[in-house]
Amino acid sequence: LLGPEGDRSEVLDTILAARRESYAEAHATLPTDDAPPAALSQRVLEVWRRPMIAVPLGARTYAVELAAEDGLALGRTVAAHARSAVFVVSDRNVEPLWGDALRASLRANGIEAKATIAVPPGEGEKHLGTVEAVLRALVEAGADRDALVVGHGGGVVTDIAGFCAATLLRGVPWVAAPTTLLGMVDAAVGGKTGVDLGAAKNAVGAFHQPKGVVVDMSRAATESPRGFRSGLAEVVKAASIADAALFEALERQVEALRRRERTAAELAAWGALRVKAAIVGRDEHEAGERAVLNFGHTIGHALEMQGGLGRLTHGEAVALGMIAALRVGERLGVTPRGVVERVVGLLDALGLPTNLDAEDLAAALPAVAFDKKRRGGSIRFVLLRAIGATELCWVEPSALAALVSPAATA
Ligand SMILES: NC(=O)c1ccc[n+]([C@@H]2O[C@H](COP(=O)([O-])OP(=O)(O)OC[C@H]3O[C@@H](n4cnc5c(N)ncnc54)[C@H](O)[C@@H]3O)[C@@H](O)[C@H]2O)c1
Ligand SMILES: [Zn+2]
Repeated sequence: LLGPEGDRSEVLDTILAARRESYAEAHATLPTDDAPPAALSQRVLEVWRRPMIAVPLGARTYAVELAAEDGLALGRTVAAHARSAVFVVSDRNVEPLWGDALRASLRANGIEAKATIAVPPGEGEKHLGTVEAVLRALVEAGADRDALVVGHGGGVVTDIAGFCAATLLRGVPWVAAPTTLLGMVDAAVGGKTGVDLGAAKNAVGAFHQPKGVVVDMSRAATESPRGFRSGLAEVVKAASIADAALFEALERQVEALRRRERTAAELAAWGALRVKAAIVGRDEHEAGERAVLNFGHTIGHALEMQGGLGRLTHGEAVALGMIAALRVGERLGVTPRGVVERVVGLLDALGLPTNLDAEDLAAALPAVAFDKKRRGGSIRFVLLRAIGATELCWVEPSALAALVSPAATA
């Protein structure tokens, strides 16, 4: 049927490769050798019960798993991908709080981390100097091509850890263990890694997808209330651009989210993750659709960098950036008034800033000109057509100030 022997092996190889590719997009793979059907069905059920979202990227597909109360998921994921030594990159706030929990989860899965590198915390440390220090520490601790890096911390840590994994010996695998809500719903998923270069946010980086992401909402309990709200801004963003039902759920869950109830937080995070995983799966390198994830970020990044680090958190800046994008949308006749009111209402109810004052805006606008997303002289904006639906538009820098001015929504 397959012709002469030579061709046959070629055909079989092609079939096997295609199979491996499609199997790779499964949420999990199970060894079935020698297991009796009863044991096998037990194993399948076990995996089936674990809440997982796949980021579908062919052979590089990975799962985002929601950890149960036992906290074992992280160690299990690391064990599934570790080839030899495991190295943890964390920061000096997270390590004393959660380092033991991480090590216990690893140990329960038969793994002892070879070294833990805790960097100084904060956005101000997200630069190449820290990357060099981490890489040196990794090499000194014996990291080789078979090393696996675990990024255990907020978005700053997972951005640094992922970038170190991308560049160490031209790339070693890594697993993301986010400890902030923002890290869980956004920074740890999607493969964008990197650091700031002076005032230029995320100016140095690489796409390097993790082998797995484990979202353990218990970690968020020690996060600052301000940090947690910052994560909620990205959840509102995800709902606004792609999921009207999630947006409604958030509106219903405002009180529980303000109280940081675990179940409400998990549902919100799950909704946002589904949106991000699907978009990244369709457009990994931001050739097109992935740009919608930048809703609120065009002005948001500029606001975040302006006035020094630490004045606005990433999420607060994104909340204000969404306000700016809503104003632009309304001015251009793309965003209906009712949509503006609902997004503003939800952000406000969740305790996020919505009053974008003229002074901050004036100070931030020049930085927008340097935004790396600027194309051919005009600035790209993601606008909302409806809750859950977007439209891209390009704005001339000279027209920007008038379009984002408060008068439009006052
Ligand atoms: N790569 C991406 O796709 C992507 C997406 C969104 C944001 N980001 C990046 O993420 C960063 C912001 O992330 P972030 O808000 O998590 O900031 P962060 O990592 O600086 O964490 C905020 C603070 O909380 C501390 N912390 C972290 N987890 C804690 C916990 N469980 N308990 C107590 N304290 C804890 C940290 O030490 C830090 O001081 C920005 O640099 C942003 O650019 C990246
Ligand atoms: Zn963001």
